[in-house]
Amino acid sequence: MGGVNPYIKPAEATLPTNKYRVTFLPDGKVVEVDPAKLPYGRNGLAGSILDLAHAAGVKLDHSCGGVCACSTCHVIVKEGLETCNEATDDEMDMLDEARSVTTESRLGCQCVPDGTKDVVVEIPSWNRNLVSEEE
Ligand code: FES
Repeated sequence: MGGVNPYIKPAEATLPTNKYRVTFLPDGKVVEVDPAKLPYGRNGLAGSILDLAHAAGVKLDHSCGGVCACSTCHVIVKEGLETCNEATDDEMDMLDEARSVTTESRLGCQCVPDGTKDVVVEIPSWNRNLVSEEE
């Protein structure tokens, strides 16, 4: 899926201008983000954690296709949260529906690191999509 949610104000984000790395926990899979290749796919904001997860072959659930209309892409940004765009009110509203939210919680489809620092992201066990989907 993928697309635009016409009912929300689009999130603002600064895309990276240099390569950086994202580590996905618990598996420890690492993706080196190349700004020249963004977006990698069609789900979520360009350069979002969801976009990067798919590039790394990491399964992250995304029931609404990455348009900030569910909370299935909930992730916890363990390191580098300060390099990510600010969460919008719409994202915070959706996060209210997620399980076990922490102060480091974000929606993977709306969270875009700017590449000034490497990032470590934990995907909660209930958000790991065990079924491969066609992109
Ligand atoms: S995939 Fe639905 S809010 Fe991110």
